[in-house]
Amino acid sequence: MSEERCTTFCPRIIGESKNLEMVLDRANRVAPTDCTVLITGETGTGKELMARFIHGHSRRKRKPFVAVNCAAMSKDLLESELFGHVQGAFTTALRNREGRFEAADGGTIFLDEIGEMPLDLQAKLLRVLQFKEFSAVGESKVRRVDVRVVAATNTDLVQMVRDGTFRQDLFYRLNVVRLQLPALRERKDDIELLVHHFMKKAGEQYGRQVEELCPCAMRRLTAHSWPGNIRELENAIEHAVVMGMGERIEEADLPTLDSLSEDELVDFMRPLSDDGIDLQTVLRQIEAQYIQQALDQTSGNKNQAANLLGLNRTTLVEKLKRGLLQPVSTAV
Ligand SMILES: Nc1ncnc2c1ncn2[C@@H]1O[C@H](COP(=O)(O)OP(=O)(O)OP(=O)(O)O)[C@@H](O)[C@H]1O
Ligand SMILES: [Mg+2]
Repeated sequence: MSEERCTTFCPRIIGESKNLEMVLDRANRVAPTDCTVLITGETGTGKELMARFIHGHSRRKRKPFVAVNCAAMSKDLLESELFGHVQGAFTTALRNREGRFEAADGGTIFLDEIGEMPLDLQAKLLRVLQFKEFSAVGESKVRRVDVRVVAATNTDLVQMVRDGTFRQDLFYRLNVVRLQLPALRERKDDIELLVHHFMKKAGEQYGRQVEELCPCAMRRLTAHSWPGNIRELENAIEHAVVMGMGERIEEADLPTLDSLSEDELVDFMRPLSDDGIDLQTVLRQIEAQYIQQALDQTSGNKNQAANLLGLNRTTLVEKLKRGLLQPVSTAV
């Protein structure tokens, strides 16, 4: 379970891309209200950060922010975690216990992975949203709280409603304002800003002064499709800061980045605009991508890399000599 209280801390959300700015604009407008917010987005896109941002920009910011991961426990445990229980409610309930809703009174509760909440608990949550009241496990007395709900999911709740695994009425209640966080591959303009932010963060954490990143390393970061999104990028930069020797991150300091799948390659292509493209340049970029991956996967072994690409070694060496890209290691 992830549970944390935050009062005055408000995180910074880094990024200036159009995709993110649109979401940030909506977030800034909804934050000061008491409106329920549903945050959606792939793993690692910053859903929890956004929930904290909303709390930090609300009138509740000096009250608790309580995060509960609905996927982290069984139905019974989750019910007692959220709503509390009274002594004797079940065999291990030796004393009364306050639930997270009461702990968050006056503040915000962040229900992470809301799609994992069992159906009968969904009914209880709906009641809190509608009437701000609930009962602890093992008790009939009604308790009242003043809590704003921010929920997040990376599953398709609309599909779950269709499948009958998520209540439609709860979905509408949560989905009053939805903030859909873009995947990192949809906001590649932000990579450079994020890299510098994470270099500074990791630098402070490890007592290193890392200020620069070589252009080859930046090219590799920009070309990657980032299935793990910002978390994956943050980890990659942390790795590079730890492994690097100097003030500049070199390409070799980066971890191996997982390969592009065929589907992701489609993403790599841009729609053909009226201005057209320079096909030779685009093809060279795709070629460079695959050669880089083959060299990464074979620790720079040109024979093996050429095999992976269906090229003979001489052709690969020629391409490398033409300055297509630098091999990652000195192995032959
Ligand atoms: N725009 C951003 N600026 C700075 N840091 C960010 C940004 N977005 C995400 N991060 C950082 O990336 C990491 C992952 O973010 P977070 O935990 O909020 O993602 P998530 O969507 O909740 O992921 P998951 O679905 O896996 O739970 C965190 O360390 C967070 O601080
Ligand atoms: Mg999360």
